[in-house]
Amino acid sequence: MGSLHSKTLISHQYKSPDPGKLRMELIQDHSRPPLVYVKGIPLIKYFAEALEEMKDLQVWPDDVLISTYPKSGTTWVSEILDRIYHWGDQEKCQQAPIFHRVPFLEFKVPEFPSGMEVLKETPAPRLLKTHLPLSLLPQALLDRKIKIIYMARNAKDVAVSYFNFYKMAKVHPDPGTWEDFLETFMTEKVSYGSWYQHVKEWWELRKQYPLLYLFYEDMKKDPKREIQKITEFVGQPLPEDILDQIVQQTSFKKMKENPMTNYSTIPDEIMDHTISPFMRKGTTGDWKNTFTVAQNERFDADYEKKMAGSDLHFYTEL
Ligand code: A3P
Repeated sequence: MGSLHSKTLISHQYKSPDPGKLRMELIQDHSRPPLVYVKGIPLIKYFAEALEEMKDLQVWPDDVLISTYPKSGTTWVSEILDRIYHWGDQEKCQQAPIFHRVPFLEFKVPEFPSGMEVLKETPAPRLLKTHLPLSLLPQALLDRKIKIIYMARNAKDVAVSYFNFYKMAKVHPDPGTWEDFLETFMTEKVSYGSWYQHVKEWWELRKQYPLLYLFYEDMKKDPKREIQKITEFVGQPLPEDILDQIVQQTSFKKMKENPMTNYSTIPDEIMDHTISPFMRKGTTGDWKNTFTVAQNERFDADYEKKMAGSDLHFYTEL
């Protein structure tokens, strides 16, 4: 793999025993660029740059949009949908990594095909993925009234999962300590901004759009029931045996072992699984292993204020 996104090659001459020799040196490291604010929303620098490209997005009537706040089970629900679309056909779903089967619209990292480029190669019926809040979502996605599947996960598990993801995925700034990161999360300065705003605004959107709002915790509790809900929503009812097969194929254990879902095909310079694997724990309530009692109390008090007036409720343990 080449120098990738993280390094800028700057050519310069220097005095050496071999005069005139031009050396290319890696003198500047651009990994972990600071977040860039777009309409007040902090974003990974490269993803912010991709928003321009997304203005040309052509939406097709049978597109289905998968929307989530990061670390809420996006990969899980994406794999479930791709399996539903292919009637659980193992071979078809093993042909490409999940980020090629389900284009990630705002994805952009130097030297990699952008989400919009992947989309161009994707045949209908397409599954599209985004983490964007509504203020940054291309209007075309809403105008066409395509089906949307939103998956939400409780804030505490998201925060812990996001902290570990920040550490391993080097397109993010350095998260600092857990204490630092929790503060960044609560003050809505992580990439994609406020979890609180995100889950609430998409919850409200279901009143006007064909939107199925799912919860990670429900999916953990009863995957078959939740997968069945998805099949009904997308109008692809499946026989019992195929449904059972999909439940099996999309279990955490299976997806952790599967190179087409576990992001192990992404080079270490971008995602270093030795720091923390993408498929990390896949549980509900893991936050208890990271939050201190004091952090939990402070988080709860702040949460209550931010979520006041909303009828949206989450389970933080099963
Ligand atoms: P943890 O870090 O808590 O383990 P996303 O795909 O939105 O980035 O979310 C990643 C989170 O979903 C990670 O959480 C990951 O382990 C979890 N996940 C992925 N596939 C899963 C599955 N099949 N079952 C349960 N959790 C899954």
